[in-house]
Amino acid sequence: MTAQQSSNGPLVHLTEEDLLSQLHQELLPRHVAIIMDGNGRWASLRGLPRIAGHREGLTALRVTLDTCYEVGIPIVTIYAFSQENWMRPKVEVRLLMNLLQEFLQLERQTFQDRRIRFLPIGRLDALPRSVQTLVYTVMEETQQFSDRVLAVALSYGARTEILDAVNQLLHDVQTGKLHDFPITEEVFQQYLATQNLPDPDLLIRTSGETRISNFLLWQIAYTELYFTTTLWPDFRRREVLLALLDYQKRERRFGRLSQHATSHPL
Ligand code: FPP
Repeated sequence: MTAQQSSNGPLVHLTEEDLLSQLHQELLPRHVAIIMDGNGRWASLRGLPRIAGHREGLTALRVTLDTCYEVGIPIVTIYAFSQENWMRPKVEVRLLMNLLQEFLQLERQTFQDRRIRFLPIGRLDALPRSVQTLVYTVMEETQQFSDRVLAVALSYGARTEILDAVNQLLHDVQTGKLHDFPITEEVFQQYLATQNLPDPDLLIRTSGETRISNFLLWQIAYTELYFTTTLWPDFRRREVLLALLDYQKRERRFGRLSQHATSHPL
């Protein structure tokens, strides 16, 4: 059991509705990022092929997005496919691409109904042509929405994102488009794939792994991290609520002293 799970100790016996009633709107994260891990282990524990874990993972993802919408979290970023994932067996990659298409087809209408902007981030040109077409279509048909965002990392790696930003920035300097020096954090982050999104307040990783795995390295400088041993396909509304309640207990200091400490002289 991780520290995060044990710190939820008294909460684990509560019903989902009780958990929901403990959430404070003013303490909700504005932006939640999620590393959905453990699909393969979930499947092998059941003697099923890995794709069965990914399929159940799709259900977990839809329930999680519904819950975030229900409680009022405006921005969610998910790590759907990393640059390293291309090294998986061809058949698994193909099935993941099929699931991505299925996800977009299933959620397309919901994005419209809920006014959610779908923002793909990553090296999208590496995706198969038919997937790219659908990704760009859904991106374009939701680009007018600004209150809610679902960012989906596809063929994504944070170091590549940062290097791409540096290269584009240098190009803009060479072509005279950018001449404000020194470069500030605000200017630099405009060049990142996440552009104007506020940084994540909370990063959730499932399956007991406690790594960041090249996800949003710039953006998570002050993000609260929540690790749970729950495998992603088992992640449901209850687990989302537990993560949010854990987040609400944290004191975010951004490198400053705590409220408590500042009220005491040195
Ligand atoms: C990590 O689990 C998960 C992935 C590489 C893919 C995530 C995909 C989904 C949640 C399904 C929805 C799909 C899309 C594309 C929207 P793992 O396979 O690395 O698990 P393991 O570490 O137990 O092997």
